[in-house]
Amino acid sequence: MNFSWPSILLSAGVSAGLFAMSGCDQLPGKPKESDRWQPPEAIKDFKTLFGANCSACHGDDTSIGPSISVQNPLYLAVIPKDILRKIIADGIKGTPMPGFAKANGGDLTDEQVDILVNDLTSKAAQQTNLPPYSAAPGDANHGSEVYNQYCANCHGQAGQGGEKAGAVVNPDYLHLVSDQYLRSVVIGGRPELGMWNYQEFVKGHPMSSQEIADVVAWLGSHRLTNQEGNAAASPTANGSSQ
Ligand code: HEC
Ligand code: HEC
Repeated sequence: MNFSWPSILLSAGVSAGLFAMSGCDQLPGKPKESDRWQPPEAIKDFKTLFGANCSACHGDDTSIGPSISVQNPLYLAVIPKDILRKIIADGIKGTPMPGFAKANGGDLTDEQVDILVNDLTSKAAQQTNLPPYSAAPGDANHGSEVYNQYCANCHGQAGQGGEKAGAVVNPDYLHLVSDQYLRSVVIGGRPELGMWNYQEFVKGHPMSSQEIADVVAWLGSHRLTNQEGNAAASPTANGSSQ
């Protein structure tokens, strides 16, 4: 990869800090009702909830996060609502995705989790005939051919990086992410970074669900097996790692 998680997280933290400081030079005047301090449980507004809890990692309308956009309409059309809710409430074990429900030690009430889920779901693209969100583990050998057909063009020979995009077989990167995450990346793309979605890699020829599973298995086969990484586990359909 030509970027690293820690440095991006760090710069996101630094810019969030600067942003908070710039609040000091607001013009003096009578404070508005909306400026009044609210207990965190009272916040019911999607933008505020998303901004405070999600955008540092997933980005939003104005920023790009180190992890995929969860406001990508195609992605939102593919992920079932109950799985989206479970992921936000429980997190994804073995990855940096925390659980947000109070029951899991998080900060959000059930109502706040529902606000996030309902608002995100309402942004889903109106498309049918989409691949399923999750799938059984694919065939890594066939995945290498799938890679050459759909991905090598940008990510280079054998995933080592090309002119249009970085390497995708770095074991350190692959240990940070689950197979489900890789599947979500391939399905939804990362439009905010110039990565197309599964329908666009080869014009007029969307990848099949099996091809997506196979290329994910091929990517996953580059994790070093002697390195203990929970993220290497394939998460089950309910969003938690096995
Ligand atoms: C049109 C060019 C293009 C194609 C085709 C493409 N990608 Fe990407 N991909 C990108 C860009 C740009 C990024 C952003 C980061 C970078 O430069 O590597 C990216 C990022 C990624 C990431 C990292 C995601 C993250 O941020 O965690 C993975 C994994 C990935 N691509 C896999 C694939 C696979 C698998 C295929 C084929 C099924 C594919 N890509 C096809 C351009 C492309
Ligand atoms: C500390 C960083 C961080 C924060 C904060 C965070 N996430 Fe995540 N999230 C991640 C990572 C990393 C993953 C990928 C985990 C994996 O590898 O499966 C992820 C995965 C997800 C997924 C599943 C993606 C997929 O593979 O389909 C959803 C949905 C999601 N997050 C939503 C949210 C929402 C909504 C919030 C705010 C309430 C949030 N996240 C806050 C880091 C974060």
